Formats: sequence, structure tokens, C-alpha cells
Amino acid sequence: MEKIVSLCKRRGFIFQSSEIYGGLNGSWDYGPLGVELKRNLKNYWWRTMVQERDDIVGLDGAILMNRAVWKASGHEETFSDPMVDCRTCKARLRADQLPEKKGEKQCPNCGGKDLTEPRPFNLMFKTYVGATEDESSVTYLRPETAQAIFVQFKNVLDTSRKKLPFGIAQIGKAFRNEINPRNFTFRSREFEQMELEYFCRPEQGMELLEYWKEERLKFYSSIGIPREKLHVLTVPDEERAFYSKGTFDIEYEFPFGRQELEGVAYRTDYDLSQHQKASGKSLEYFDEETKQKFIPHVVEPSAGVDRTVLALICEAYVEDEAPDEKGKMETRTVLRFHPRIAPFKCAVFPLLKNNPDLVAKSEQILETLRPHMYVFYDESGAIGRRYRRQDEIGTPFAITVDFETLGDRDASLRDTVTLRDRDSMKQDRVPIGDLISLLTSRIA
Ligand code: GAP
Repeated sequence: MEKIVSLCKRRGFIFQSSEIYGGLNGSWDYGPLGVELKRNLKNYWWRTMVQERDDIVGLDGAILMNRAVWKASGHEETFSDPMVDCRTCKARLRADQLPEKKGEKQCPNCGGKDLTEPRPFNLMFKTYVGATEDESSVTYLRPETAQAIFVQFKNVLDTSRKKLPFGIAQIGKAFRNEINPRNFTFRSREFEQMELEYFCRPEQGMELLEYWKEERLKFYSSIGIPREKLHVLTVPDEERAFYSKGTFDIEYEFPFGRQELEGVAYRTDYDLSQHQKASGKSLEYFDEETKQKFIPHVVEPSAGVDRTVLALICEAYVEDEAPDEKGKMETRTVLRFHPRIAPFKCAVFPLLKNNPDLVAKSEQILETLRPHMYVFYDESGAIGRRYRRQDEIGTPFAITVDFETLGDRDASLRDTVTLRDRDSMKQDRVPIGDLISLLTSRIA
């Protein structure tokens, strides 16, 4: 992980939030490359979950909601982790993550064994809405995006006129005052979720739970996280939320251990029923065929954006061997991102920066490609070093404009460039006119 964290900072993927003031534990900023990677992931999720389907629509709910939502959902009462304090060093710790020595729990900071009894610690960030700071103005930063979907269920149903089964998808920020944020961005206090609530008839729930687990596994393969690095945990009865009839955790083998990327849960009709009861507003569905009204059940695939970004970086990070300028083998650091999520799709290099014809031709290529993809331009340094810099940030393709491109040496090669593949390092000569179709087919 150390190498990955250091690369993330050095190349501008992820920075500690408020770094110049010593940081803020559990908060992270995505730099110029991180923001592209994250955006590509979210866009691809949105494309495959919403835009390429007839049965799912989107929502972008507010982060601040009426406190009544959190009472009805059960979060105000029960969204907590058990916490203990170490009386020796005053550290506040998660009771379920304490190391043990000779069967006795101890503080991971100082090794002390003088710990308080566990007590619940609510993970929601409390805030006040408006000018007065009293009980009547309390609300919370949302700890999951899902609740906006449940409370807007009726509005979405009425306006989109969807029939069961159908889903509502949302991507957005969530906040949890985690007791121990850790493992880089893996457990943060501010993070993003990509959630789908897929509403159905009660008898479809278990089948759809299976369907969504498989769909989500396919999604990870399609962004470069292979099936063999994922593990599906069937959450045992005693660990599942009481309203859930089945939950799978999709886990990834991070360098710090196998950990959850996404939960796929069959939540029955619990959420809609709770909000119907508490608000007094009907959240029922009218089945035109059977003329019956009922509260739909729901299957929820809920993924973490930041955790997936971290998995993508961990999966892509490779050190291999490549020849340097003089043909001597050296260690090369590569991020082998799937082209569809790579921050830059391709780089354009004029062989020499002081040759106006090479530079002009490169600029022409840039202009042609830019409406189709995010392209990096680099004219400084030896060509081999420029390739290495792109390898390290995961750019899958590099185009070099050389003297053949100008037709100086062989007229038949005029307006051709070399197209280098990051992973194989193979270079092919291709006509400039073919670049768009060649590249767009590989990054789609
Ligand atoms: N609506 C259901 C829900 O929120 P969850 O398992 O608590 O379920 C879903 O969260 C996903 O959100 C997790 O699988 C994880 O990817 C992400 N997530 C949860 N807590 C997180 C945290 N503290 N930091 C980063 N990601 C987190």
C-alpha cells in the first residue's frame, strides 16, 4: 500500500484533505488525475445502470433531509458502532476491532488493557438547519443516499410511469463519523456511493437478489477488476439487518486484506413501509392488472465510489521490466487501467519540440481527438521518458508524430503516426485518419 499511496500523491490522484493544516482524518481530495478516474467510473456506472436500460431512472437527492427521514429509517436510533475508550491513552476505539492478547482485549495504540465498557456511538454527523441551534433545528448529513430514493418513490413513480420491476439509481456523497477511518480512502468519513433501489413484487425479491449480484460482478469485470480477485460473502442470518431476507457482500482482495466493495441486499418492503407509516402518505403501488395496491419490495446494490477507485488503482499497479534509452532493462511502474476508466485515453508527442512542423502536426491531431476523448500533450524530454510518465499514470495509448508523419523520408508514410500500446509497449504505424475509430472502439 505504501507504494500506491505514494504514487497517488506524487502523480496527483489523491491528496490528504486540508494537508497544509495537518490534514483532517478520514477526508481526502482527488487531484487532477483522481478526479478523472472517479468521474469515468461514475459515468460508466450511470451509463450501464441507467442510460442503457429501460427499467431504471435516476435521481439526485439533497444531502440534507428532514430529520423525520432518519427517525423513520431507524438511523437516529440504531445507526451506530460499539465504541470503547482507553483509560490509559484516551483513544476512542471500535469495540469490535480490538486486538486481543492472551484472550484479553487491548488498546492498539498503547497496549493498555484498561478499557471502558462498549457503548453505542451514532455515526451520523449532526448539524443545525437555520439560525437557531436547538433540538427543533437538528438534522444530519446523510449517511447513505438510499433514503432520498425511498422518500421520493411516489414522485418518481408518478412522473416516470414505470411498471414493476423498476429501479431508481443515485450517485452522491454520504457521511459517517467513523470511529477509526483507515486504510487510505477505504474507510473515510466523507465518501460517495452509487446506489440502486430496484423495486419489485414480493415474489420476485430472491430471484432479483441473485440477478443483481451477477450483474454487479459483471460490472467489475468490465472495468478491469477480474472475477478471481472478487469474493462473494453470503452474509449469515445473525449478521444481516433484521428486515433483510438475503445480503451478499462483494469483496475485493486489497493489499490490506479482503474487504467489502459493495453490498447487494434484499431489503423487503421495510423502507417504504417505515416511511409510509411515519409520513402518513401512501407509498403503495397500484397494479393495473390485478387491481391490487401493495408496498413494493426492494433489492439494493450499493457500491462505494472511493473503495472502487482504490480497488482500480490497486489492481492496475504493476512493476515490470522495460528497456531504457540505451536498451538496458529497468523497472517500469505501470497503472494498467482498463482504457474505459483511465484518466487520459491517449497522449500525443511530437518527436522533437523544436521542430515547428512536428509540433503543428501534433496540434492538428490533438484538435481532431479532443472532442472524442481526454488527451494529454507532452513535448518535453526524451521520448522514452515521456512514455514512462504516461505508463505511470495509466494512459493506455501514446501517439508519436515523427519525420515519417511529415513524409520527409518516405512519401507513402505521410500522415501516419506510431501508436504505442501501454501494456505490450508495441508500436504500430497507423494513418492519422484511422485514429478516432481505432481509439474510440477501445475506450468505449
Ligand atoms: N444503503 C446501504 C448502505 O449504505 P453500506 O454497506 O453501509 O450500505 C454501502 O454501504 C457501500 O458504501 C459499502 O459497500 C462501501 O463501498 C461504501 N461505504 C460505506 N461506508 C464507507 C466508508 N466509511 N468509507 C468509504 N466507503 C464506504
